[in-house]
Amino acid sequence: MMAAPAIRTRITSLFGCKYPLILPGMSWISDPNLVSAVSNAGGVGILATGPLSADETRNAIRTIRSNTDKPFGIGTTLLMPGAEANAKVAIEEQVPIINISLGKGDWIAERVHEYNGKILATVTNAKHAQSAIDSGADALMLTGHEAAAHGGDVTSLVLIPCISKRFPDVPIVAAGGFADGRTLSAAIALGADAVAMGSRFATTKESSLAHQMKEIIANPELSGGSTEADTIYGKNFDGIPARVLKSAESSRLNKKPASLPLVIYRAFNAAQKMNIPLYKVIPGLITQFDKMYMVAQFGAATESLMKATVDGNYDEGVQFIGQSQGLIEDIPAVDELVQRIILEAIETSSQTYETLSEKRMT
Ligand SMILES: Cc1cc2nc3c(=O)[nH]c(=O)nc-3n(C[C@H](O)[C@H](O)[C@H](O)COP(=O)(O)O)c2cc1C
Repeated sequence: MMAAPAIRTRITSLFGCKYPLILPGMSWISDPNLVSAVSNAGGVGILATGPLSADETRNAIRTIRSNTDKPFGIGTTLLMPGAEANAKVAIEEQVPIINISLGKGDWIAERVHEYNGKILATVTNAKHAQSAIDSGADALMLTGHEAAAHGGDVTSLVLIPCISKRFPDVPIVAAGGFADGRTLSAAIALGADAVAMGSRFATTKESSLAHQMKEIIANPELSGGSTEADTIYGKNFDGIPARVLKSAESSRLNKKPASLPLVIYRAFNAAQKMNIPLYKVIPGLITQFDKMYMVAQFGAATESLMKATVDGNYDEGVQFIGQSQGLIEDIPAVDELVQRIILEAIETSSQTYETLSEKRMT
């Protein structure tokens, strides 16, 4: 079959990729294997560095470089311990795209621009979009309410046109609710220049999401249900409003959050597993309790998230997933998926054009 033609948007021009499809950072999933598969297929893979130490980040970047000569990025959640160290490694390694979230990255932007790298800032509203642009972001990733994990309050359907109208000169990646060619075509119509797909790329052959979870997401009849309606959005999972797969454990947590001592105990456990020394955690917990409590909840969630994502334990774990799981019915290879989505988007756009021009003539 002929390969889908290259698509030119402000994002494909900025990042130097063939197709406007991004793999966003997903802990334990957006690893060197999946990142290079997406970049080799013509999109842009973004490495998740949340669970990685600085040395592991450097090794992962080098592995990606040995698998692909195509553009790729790394994601860094600035609020988290270890994020700065990982960003410094990415700068030393001159990673082409740095995706920053939950924090201001002025110093990162300054240094990344010195080697002509690009900054993609993840935001969920206009205020944070403005602040990211002021801090040197070259493009925005807008995360709508439909998204897996930390989508904002506003749905992609409204968020994308509002932000693209307000910041017409800034290229936009739409995240949250995009999983096929029709939704890609819709995103472009709304003012986006690319889509980031978490749920969809997580359920591909190359993804290291636990096989049991992939099967449940692609086959709703295997679990209590994994249709577009079977997610829960709440703040009891990791302290920040997040969307997860509905299950016995996520329903229970949604009603009753973990107690404070349990959160702190699990956070210390997670810090130890990630080799973060306690002397870095304890002072913050005392002097900036609110912020550190949020970070503690984030760290404490590691155990239940890993149970689902890594171990495939649907009953006892918590799985980030978006409403777009309703569009997922198979587990294809990345390259096959990318080709299918681009061809379907082109087909959808021409059907939309035909429909609207016929209506105009009658
Ligand atoms: C399985 C899975 C794990 C994720 N893990 C993270 C994560 O560790 N950190 C994060 O900021 N976002 C995470 N996300 C969210 C994605 O980065 C992205 O914003 C989201 O998937 C977009 O919505 P979609 O799932 O509808 O495509 C995760 C998403 C999924 C599906």
